[in-house]
Amino acid sequence: MSDNLITLEGVHTHIGAYHILHGVDLVVPRGQLTMLLGRNGAGKTTTLRTIMGLWQASQGRITFGGQDISTKQTPQIAHLGIAYVPENMGVFSDLTVKENMLLAARSARNAEQMDQERLQWIFKLFPAVEKFWNHPAGKLSGGQKQMLAVSRAIVEPRELLIVDEPSKGLAPSIINNMIEAFQQLKQSGVTILLVEQNINFAKRLGDTVAVMDNGRVVHAGSMQALAQDEALQQSLLGLAL
Ligand SMILES: Nc1ncnc2c1ncn2[C@@H]1O[C@H](COP(=O)(O)OP(=O)(O)OP(=O)(O)O)[C@@H](O)[C@H]1O
Ligand SMILES: [Mg+2]
Repeated sequence: MSDNLITLEGVHTHIGAYHILHGVDLVVPRGQLTMLLGRNGAGKTTTLRTIMGLWQASQGRITFGGQDISTKQTPQIAHLGIAYVPENMGVFSDLTVKENMLLAARSARNAEQMDQERLQWIFKLFPAVEKFWNHPAGKLSGGQKQMLAVSRAIVEPRELLIVDEPSKGLAPSIINNMIEAFQQLKQSGVTILLVEQNINFAKRLGDTVAVMDNGRVVHAGSMQALAQDEALQQSLLGLAL
């Protein structure tokens, strides 16, 4: 069994007439949290969508657990054990938190059929999910919706969790809660691929890191090495230090 749960080799993606990904090479080591960083428009979201089959790779290969998923449809890819939390979160505002969770739990028809042990674990990770259980999700704050979105993704065991910018628009105190939750998720053994803009969030959580620019991965290595190298951060991410 390979140490890499998912591997992208020379992946190109076109969206309509636009050539967006120009040969992405990326590996996500099993059991680790991989940070995908890069400037706005670098191609991070497009990479995640291509993994999920929401965009079709026009060239290259994507393998998950050794299996080629490049030409599979999104439901098949999800079924193999990949959960995806998109940028816009996919939370249904008119439904209650409970109903949102139920929709994500494929095997349960009512709350009683949900894996209770897992649910208690999620309530511990994200207390807001329990607190607002019977409230419409539309009433949640941005941060709470973000937490509901991640909760939905982990309501059933998944091998790989892919999350697009979970810290976006969140207050620092909520970001700390989010970091703690991801630390616990890591300890549970799930492999995670996270897109981030917030370098401090990335530094605190990342094991490995890949940095994208112009539709390619231009740097890959350990998060710790990048965190310690401010000149490299500056050149890769253009951070105002
Ligand atoms: N539906 C689309 N049609 C045309 N171009 C698109 C579409 N979606 C994305 N793009 C373009 O693809 C490029 C990469 O976009 P993408 O959303 O992957 O970047 P990103 O790294 O996620 O950026 P951000 O940090 O702003 O979320 C951008 O130039 C964007 O304009
Ligand atoms: Mg994006």
